[in-house]
Amino acid sequence: MNEFVRLTINDGVAVITIDNPPVNALGAGVPEGIAAAIDRAEQDRPVSSIVLNGAGRTFVAGADIKQLEDQAHGRGPGAPNLHGLLKQIEDCSKPVVMAIHGTALGGGLELAMAGHYRVAAPDAQAGQPEVNLGIIPGAEGTQRLPRLVGLAAALEMCVSGKPIRAPEALRLGLFDRIIDGDWLSGAVTFAREMAARGGPHPRTRGRNEKLGTTESNAELLAHGREQARKTRRNMLAPLAVIDALEAAVTLPFEEGCRREREIVETCLASGQAKALIHAFFAERAAARIPGISKDTRTYNIRRAAIIGSGTMGGGIAMAFANAGIAVLIKDADQAALDRGLATVRNNYETSVNKGRFSKETMDQRMALIHPQLTYDGFENVDLIIEAVFENLALKKQVFAEIDRIAKRECILATNTSTLDIDQIAAGTSRPQMVIGTHFFSPAHVMRLLEIVRGAATASEVIAAALALAKQLRKAGVVVGNCRGFVGNRMMLPYMREAQFLLEEGATPMQVDQALVDFGMAMGIFAVGDMGGLDLAWRVRQEYKYLEKPGVRVPLVLEKLFEMGRWGQKTGAGWHRYDEDRKPIPDSKVEALIEAVAKQAGIPGRTISDDEIIERCIYIMINEGARILDEGHALRAGDIDTVYLAGYGFPAYRGGPMWYAGAVGLKKIYEKIMDFHRQHGELWEPAPLLKRLAEEGNTFASLDASKEVLAVRS
Ligand code: CAA
Ligand code: NAI
Repeated sequence: MNEFVRLTINDGVAVITIDNPPVNALGAGVPEGIAAAIDRAEQDRPVSSIVLNGAGRTFVAGADIKQLEDQAHGRGPGAPNLHGLLKQIEDCSKPVVMAIHGTALGGGLELAMAGHYRVAAPDAQAGQPEVNLGIIPGAEGTQRLPRLVGLAAALEMCVSGKPIRAPEALRLGLFDRIIDGDWLSGAVTFAREMAARGGPHPRTRGRNEKLGTTESNAELLAHGREQARKTRRNMLAPLAVIDALEAAVTLPFEEGCRREREIVETCLASGQAKALIHAFFAERAAARIPGISKDTRTYNIRRAAIIGSGTMGGGIAMAFANAGIAVLIKDADQAALDRGLATVRNNYETSVNKGRFSKETMDQRMALIHPQLTYDGFENVDLIIEAVFENLALKKQVFAEIDRIAKRECILATNTSTLDIDQIAAGTSRPQMVIGTHFFSPAHVMRLLEIVRGAATASEVIAAALALAKQLRKAGVVVGNCRGFVGNRMMLPYMREAQFLLEEGATPMQVDQALVDFGMAMGIFAVGDMGGLDLAWRVRQEYKYLEKPGVRVPLVLEKLFEMGRWGQKTGAGWHRYDEDRKPIPDSKVEALIEAVAKQAGIPGRTISDDEIIERCIYIMINEGARILDEGHALRAGDIDTVYLAGYGFPAYRGGPMWYAGAVGLKKIYEKIMDFHRQHGELWEPAPLLKRLAEEGNTFASLDASKEVLAVRS
C-alpha cells in the first residue's frame, strides 16, 4: 500500500502487515498506509475478513515518540490524529482481526482496540505506558480500554503504565483468543470463523456493559487518585489519565474522545513530558558509542562466574539468574559463601511470598547459581566479574589468578566502585579484555550498570558489556575511569554540601524532606543510613588526600561514626528508626550538630528549602559539567541516565543535567557564583557550565551538536 504497509490476500482473508522497523511505530505514512489497505480490502468483494499484524519482532509499539517530542517542543506537526483511521476500522463492514505478537503498546494497543477482535501469541503483551512519557493515551485508549476491561483494570493499566501479559488480557476481555503455534495463520483461521459466523461485529466504542455504575465508579476513581498520588508522586500524567478515564464513564464516546484530546495537549505542553521523553531517548542513546557500530564484533555471554559472594556478588548472581544465565559464584570462605547463598534464597523467598513469581520460578533461578570455593569451571565461562573486598592488592591478586585460568576470549570485569581499572588491568596479560562493570546495590533490583572503560579496553568488550546490560534488563552507561566514575563522583559533593547545610542550621530531617519533596526517591541522610555510616566514613578517609588546608570539610560524620551510630544496621545514624525502618528525627543528633557547629564558629541561621535544593542539586550539576568536559561521560544525557536509573533522581525532571536546562544555565551559573563568593573554592564554577551559560545554551543542545558531528564524521 505504501513503503510501510503491505496488503496480501490469503484465500479470501486480507492480511495487512505494518512494516516500520524497529518497532512498527505509527510514524508518518503508517496510518495512511493502514487506511488505504483497509479501504482496498473492504472494496475487494472476494475478501471476507481482514487481519492486521506487525512485521518483525512486534506488533505496534505506539506513536512515534520522536514526533511527540517535536510536538512537545513546538516543532513540526507532531503525531497524527488517529480518530479517522480508528473509526474507519471500527466501521468496516468486514470483520477486522488484530493479530498481536510482541507488544501492543500505547497507540499500538489503541489501534488494536479499534479492531472487532484481538487474537495474540501466548507471550504477547499489551499496555498503555504513556504516563511514563508524561502524557496520556492520545488515540482514544482512555475511552476504549474501560469499555473492554472495565474501569478498575483500565485505571491500573493506565496509571501504572505497566503492560499485561496475554493470559491476563484474555481474562480481562482485552484479547479474544490466544493462539499457540503460528499466530498469524491462527489469526487468519479466526478471521474466517468470524466472517462465517456473520455480523454484526462488535464495535468497542458501542460497548457500554462494563462501564459500571455512578457509585462504583466514584469509589474506583477516588481510590485511583489516592493511589496515583502515592505511587507516582508529584507526577501530572497519572492524575490526568484518571480525568480522561472519568470522561469515559460519564460522557458519550465522542465527547470523551474530545476531552482526552484536550488533556493530551495539556500534558504534552508540560515540562514533565519533555523531561520524560528526554529520559526515554537518553537511555537508548547511551548504548551508542562513537567507534562502536552495530556490526562491531562482540562476545556472547552465555556462562558467567562471580568472585565474592557478599552484598554485591550475591545480587549480581541473582541478576544473571533472573535473566536465565547460569553463574558460578566463588568465595574464599565457606561461611561467607553460605551466608551469601542464604541471602539470595531469602530474597527469592520474599519475592515468592509477595506473589511476584512462583516457587517454581525461584527453584529454576536458584538452580542457575552454583556456589563453590574453587575455580573449577572458570575455564569455560565467557565473563568473570570480581566482587571481592575493595582493596587494590587483593583485586590485583585475584585478576592474576583468573588471568591464568580463563579462556583467552573471556572478559574479566571488576565491580570496584573506587579503584583504577587500568591498575587492575596492568597485572594481567590481556588488559584489552578488562573492564569495569559497576553494579548498584541491590544489584538484582537497581537498573543502572556503569560500564567503566579502561585505557586498553577493546571496543568488542565494551559492546559486549552493553549487550550484557540489555540482557540483564539494565541501563548500561559507558563511563570513564575517574575516581567514583560518574555517579559516586557527583554524589560526593552532594553529600558534603548536605552536611554543610546541617552545620549552618538545617536539620537532617528538613534536608531529607526538602529532597523528597523535590522528587528524590530518598533523602540523602536516609540514603547514608541505609548504606551504613561506617562505609561513608571509610570513603571519607580514602578521599582525605583530596582535602586541602583551609578548605572546609564536614565535621559531624566522624562523630556519629565514633558513637557507633552507623545507620540502619545499628538502629540509628543521622535519624533514628522505628520497627518499620521509618526515619524519625533525633534530637540528640540535632544537639550534636549544633554543638559541633558552635565549636567550629559556624553561625546558625534559618535555611530555606529552596537553598537546600540549590546547594544539593547545583553542586552535582557543576561536577557533572566537569565530568562531561573531561570526557568521562560521553553525553549529558548519559549522566542523566546514571542518576535516573541508579540514584533515585525524579524521572519527571529528566536527570540533573536536563533539569539544569529547565531551570536555565544562566540562573544556575549565577547562583553558583553567589555560592562561590559565600562558601569558597568548593563552588568554583565548571568552565563548561560557564561557557554554555554565556552562550545561552543547554547541556541538551551540546549533546545534540555532538550527535550531528558524529553523524557527519
Ligand atoms: N517511537 C519511536 N521510536 C521507538 C518507539 C516509539 N514508540 N519505541 C521504541 N523506539 C525505538 C527506540 O528509541 C530504539 O531506537 P534506537 O535503536 O535507535 O535507539 C528502538 O526503537 C528499539 O527500542 P528499545 O531499545 O527500547 O528495544 P526493546 O526491544 O528493548 O524494547 C519496546 C522495545 C518495549 C517497544 C520499548 O522500546 C518501548 O517500551 N518503547 C516505548 C513504547 C511506548 O511508550 N509507547 C507509547 C508511545 S506514546 C503513544 O503511543 C501515544 C498515543 O497514545 C498515540
Ligand atoms: P562484601 O564485603 O559484602 O563481600 C566481599 C566478599 O568477597 C566476601 O564474601 C569475601 O569473603 C569475599 N572475598 C574476599 N576475598 C576473596 C577472594 N580472594 N576470593 C574470593 N572471595 C573473596 O563486599 P561488597 O559490598 O559486596 O563489595 C564488593 C565489591 O563491590 C567492592 O569492590 C565494592 O567496592 C563494590 N561495590 C559495593 C557496593 C555496595 O553497595 N556494597 C556498590 C557497588 C560496588
